[in-house]
Amino acid sequence: MRGWLKEASSGQAARALRRSAWARGYFSKLMKCRREPLPDWGACSRKADAARQAEPEKPLVCTLVSPVGVKAFVTGFNGTMGLGHIAAATPDLEASHRFFTEVMGFGQTDYLHLHFSPDPADPGQGLHFLHASNPRHHSLALFQSKDPMPGDLVHLMVEVPDLDTLGGFMDRVHSNGVRVITCLGRHTNDRMVSIYVETPAGFALEYGFDGLQLDWSTYVPTFSKRESHWGHRWGQG
Ligand SMILES: [Fe+2]
Repeated sequence: MRGWLKEASSGQAARALRRSAWARGYFSKLMKCRREPLPDWGACSRKADAARQAEPEKPLVCTLVSPVGVKAFVTGFNGTMGLGHIAAATPDLEASHRFFTEVMGFGQTDYLHLHFSPDPADPGQGLHFLHASNPRHHSLALFQSKDPMPGDLVHLMVEVPDLDTLGGFMDRVHSNGVRVITCLGRHTNDRMVSIYVETPAGFALEYGFDGLQLDWSTYVPTFSKRESHWGHRWGQG
């Protein structure tokens, strides 16, 4: 994540050009793959509607029909865990923190302060990790960046239930020539075991498993100085 974050504040135009060339190659590969028939997505939602009508009080557990064999994404029953989390860049960390906690109502989970430069005069950059009303460690991370693009999305995280599903994703990343941003690693604060890859949309995707789930009724917000227990090294796939 570190290298990606460093890039988020510089060289935006050069990256956009490089990505558009990379995306053209990616989508032409994707189009070739589309010769196979896709699953009947409509059947899934019709089945879910019928189950809801038959037993409206019963929690609905939906089954993912994945064309590449992903068993599930960790979203909780009835989606109570949300899609995952996002990290967004902001030039004014404290104003953004006030907005998302005081106006939006997110709760504080952790503050992480990182130093990307060996220069002792470098003040470093901060990240606030905020949670919603579900057990996920954070649903939103705010990353302090000097000159972000408007609405700059640093990364989107999706979580899968086990290491094998993450391994299958890593195999598909390598066989499709997707650019890997970091090698596998485990974060210190949410303990997510994950890798980061570049998407054609221009933001990074964090794909992980084993993220921490917390009980907010007894939680005391934390302060972190390290991003990862191990791994997550820039440019090492
Ligand atoms: Fe993340």
